[in-house]
Amino acid sequence: MCGIVGYIGKRDAQDVLLSGLRRLEYRGYDSAGIVTIDGSNQATLLRANGKVAELGKLVSTNQNKDSVGIGHTRWATHGEPSEINAHPHRAGDIYVVHNGIIENYKELKAELKDHTFVSGTDTEVLAALINSFYGVDTSLCDAVSKALQLVVGTYGIAVVSTRQPDEVVVARAGSPLIIGVGKDETLIASDASALIGHTSQAIYLNDGEMAICRRDGVELQDLNSQPISAQVETIEVDMQAIQKQGYDHFLLKEISEQPQTLRSTLNGRVIVEDKRIQLGGLNLTVEQLKDIEHVTIIGCGTAYYAGLLASYYLEQLVDNLTVEVVIASEFRYRSFYMPKNSVALVVSQSGETADTLACLREVKRRGVTTLGIINAVGSTIAREVDGGVYVHAGPEISVASTKAFTSQVAALTMFGVQVAQAKGVSVQRTAQYVEELALLPDEIEKVITTHQKEMAEVAKKYASYDHALFLGRDTLFPVALEGALKLKEISYIQAEGYATGELKHGPIALLDDRFFEVVLLMEGWLFDKSISGLSEINARGGHVLAITNSAKEIDAETVVRVDTKLDILAPIALNVLQQLFAYYIAVARGNDVDQPRNLAKSVTVE
Ligand code: F6R
Repeated sequence: MCGIVGYIGKRDAQDVLLSGLRRLEYRGYDSAGIVTIDGSNQATLLRANGKVAELGKLVSTNQNKDSVGIGHTRWATHGEPSEINAHPHRAGDIYVVHNGIIENYKELKAELKDHTFVSGTDTEVLAALINSFYGVDTSLCDAVSKALQLVVGTYGIAVVSTRQPDEVVVARAGSPLIIGVGKDETLIASDASALIGHTSQAIYLNDGEMAICRRDGVELQDLNSQPISAQVETIEVDMQAIQKQGYDHFLLKEISEQPQTLRSTLNGRVIVEDKRIQLGGLNLTVEQLKDIEHVTIIGCGTAYYAGLLASYYLEQLVDNLTVEVVIASEFRYRSFYMPKNSVALVVSQSGETADTLACLREVKRRGVTTLGIINAVGSTIAREVDGGVYVHAGPEISVASTKAFTSQVAALTMFGVQVAQAKGVSVQRTAQYVEELALLPDEIEKVITTHQKEMAEVAKKYASYDHALFLGRDTLFPVALEGALKLKEISYIQAEGYATGELKHGPIALLDDRFFEVVLLMEGWLFDKSISGLSEINARGGHVLAITNSAKEIDAETVVRVDTKLDILAPIALNVLQQLFAYYIAVARGNDVDQPRNLAKSVTVE
């Protein structure tokens, strides 16, 4: 979603800002802009609709040596994508970039009669509001803090003024902001990836905090101008992790690196010799784990599907445990009840998803213990949960989530085993999970190496269809949902996931030659029932791609067979094939694989 960068130092601000915005491109956006201020208090504002490359062209014809400025990539919420709606927005002497949504912008706008509005954005309202407090005797910081006290909504903002070119003022409420502390320079970013290569020292702003950033340091305060002491932390992401490293797309890199990312997820946590799981950061005693009677798994999109798959494992592992999996944006506003001895597992790759964060806060407000299954270290959700498990999948740059899903399922399964251990479930019952978790990285590696070319070929066969149905039973049902989501996101083929048993309760009416059907099949007690679904499709002239770990004869247009030692966790392997399938279809259709239209990587507005 929208991205913020800022710089104050001795280098050319335009260069630093532009390279920061390039790093944030993966988040999804539709326009970009920067403003820099020179020594004689003149601003250079450059904005472009479309890609950062367009902004880059503008910069190359308007280069300057200014050493302070702010920049932004915008993902439209209020007002269409256009140059006029792109940030920074100006009011008087000040310029503002903003992530988030000002909910009371209409009321505020009605009061700001002295400002002539040129854009359709809520951000220009914020700029005008700050400017209305920016009298000759007022500091920029005071004007910002007065304005923010009237704002309802979420924001991460960076503000500069031609009158005070030696500082950048930033503030945060619900939208991340990180301040990079360098030597004689300070950087600002909404995402740590924009700071990598500049500094590894960072201050993560909390909600309700603001800061005055100068070349020689940072002053933190709350909205009432009370000073706060800054905690400088070390960012641990390296440069390699955010580069393509020879792959055509980040998506293919991220699918391919799953064996390694899984090793990082499992490392030190799966104790194969003892057939045990040892998770470190739960902050729960064995007694507390033993007392858990109800688990609510919360997430959005792919994180929700990871939770759904894991819920089958949790139920299989522990008797007398109720598990519900909820969509964060829905659950948050329901009159839900969580029984005593509940734990909420909050699943998020970015750790910044606004719906998930809002849900976490509501659950916490009700006194429920919250645990995070998070990828992005230091993210807001990771900071606000009571404990949890970092999945350590490394930065996920491509908008479509792949390696995070795999690691989330692994982490949630480990949690299930740990609860089972605490509750005294027999080792016979948990051992197969532990063994398969240990096998997972090598088995996924084998699946990718053996089937990558095959999936590229199979994808060509199905790339020109308009519609797709993904079907699976039991643990393959969430995998079908995830397969459909992945395909629709990057190929734009309309794809729906269903439980195979639901086929005849409605969706079968859709089938015609514009459809293909992905039928997921696993060896086991539901195999024959799943085959019945396949037969029903065949009987109607379907175009079935069957993906299976079974060696049995299967009557389908195309069959992809996986030879794997995984049994319980085989759905994860079948999902990796679906990831490759979606990737190659998107490539065949000539789509922007890493930044699909209309999507944002980290959805920081509700
Ligand atoms: C799908 C996808 C989204 C995210 C969802 C949650 O490929 O990327 O559905 O899974 O927006 O994001 P996180 O996990 O960052 O909370």
